Amino acid sequence: MLARSALRTLSQSRQFSSSASRQTKVAVLGAGGGIGQPLSLLLKLNPLVSELSLYDIRGAPGVAADVSHIDSASEVYGYPADQLDKASRASRLSLSLPVCPASPMTRDDLFNTNASIVRDLAAAVARVAPEAHLLIISNPVNSTVPIVSEVLKKAGVYDARRVFGVTTLDVVRSARFLGSVTSSNPDDCKVTVVGGHSGPTIVPLLSQTTNGKAVKGEAYEKLVHRIQFGGDEVVKAKDGAGSATLSMAYAGAKFTNDLLRGLNGEKGVVVPTFVKSPLFEDKGIEYFSSSVELGPNGVEKIHPLGSLSAEEEKLLEACLPELKKNIEKGKAFVSQS
Ligand code: NAD
Ligand code: LMR
Repeated sequence: MLARSALRTLSQSRQFSSSASRQTKVAVLGAGGGIGQPLSLLLKLNPLVSELSLYDIRGAPGVAADVSHIDSASEVYGYPADQLDKASRASRLSLSLPVCPASPMTRDDLFNTNASIVRDLAAAVARVAPEAHLLIISNPVNSTVPIVSEVLKKAGVYDARRVFGVTTLDVVRSARFLGSVTSSNPDDCKVTVVGGHSGPTIVPLLSQTTNGKAVKGEAYEKLVHRIQFGGDEVVKAKDGAGSATLSMAYAGAKFTNDLLRGLNGEKGVVVPTFVKSPLFEDKGIEYFSSSVELGPNGVEKIHPLGSLSAEEEKLLEACLPELKKNIEKGKAFVSQS
């Protein structure tokens, strides 16, 4: 079952979709994997999606046949390895999520495996769906978003308003973990998470929520650590056989739904996401996650961080140099390839 708030959002979308005239083809690249399968299932339930295009080098037609039996209106097509262009053509959104999250790797170790795959997928999307919005789930997000952006620039189709690193899992975890520490409903624990998506680059702004403000001392330190390293908790519990897939599919579906609401003209959709940002440009940091208003063109407005506690200032201080390195690594990969 989807959480109550997500169900509410989906039902609002359902009402909204009756007046939305645009057809929305969503392509999932990596649809056969641990995240791709449940994400495809959740997207099939979303009335804002009219066509689901599932691509993978392994198994996408099978996933598509399975998901296509669900009794919602959208059409589902599955594409094998040699049909990437067909899968991506004319899509409004394209979600990229390969590749193997092999066990003891850090997100940064994943760089070597994922960088070239993400680069090649982005080049294909640039060629056949140059106006698509790209949602990057593939790790390390801090580097894959710059990689995709540089590829789009090379292809002459870059629009910073259309490239998003999906950091929603950090937001989902923050609400859940804060809820459990304060015995509150996660719905009442919405936390803005800024920075990037790996360990110390994840900066939860707990002081900006009533429940979060109440957590102090050792409990605060533990909570921040759990939010920053929640991914490791799952990898360990899965005994190295994979990383977060179900909670990530939920987070990916949630962000997709938010973006579709914005694209379809709904006002006031504001969520954290990792985008090209002016917030720390003076420090040489081109991409940053913060509260972003989503609208008909994608990124509509990037909100400032607001006031930070002394602890959050320290977290931010630790985040920025690491984030800068990760971004530069992504950019260098494209310029050298
Ligand atoms: P997985 O290994 O289960 O699935 C990856 C899929 O990608 C596989 O089905 C594989 O066949 C496919 N693939 C490989 N090369 C491909 C290509 N060239 N084109 C299309 N598909 C290809 O992995 P997973 O658990 O689904 O994780 C996917 C990615 O998401 C990993 O990079 C992981 O680190 C990342 N992740 C991100 C977050 C986040 O918060 N952004 C959270 C969890 C995981
Ligand atoms: C997560 O946050 O769970 C993912 O980014 C996977 C990971 O490597 O931790």
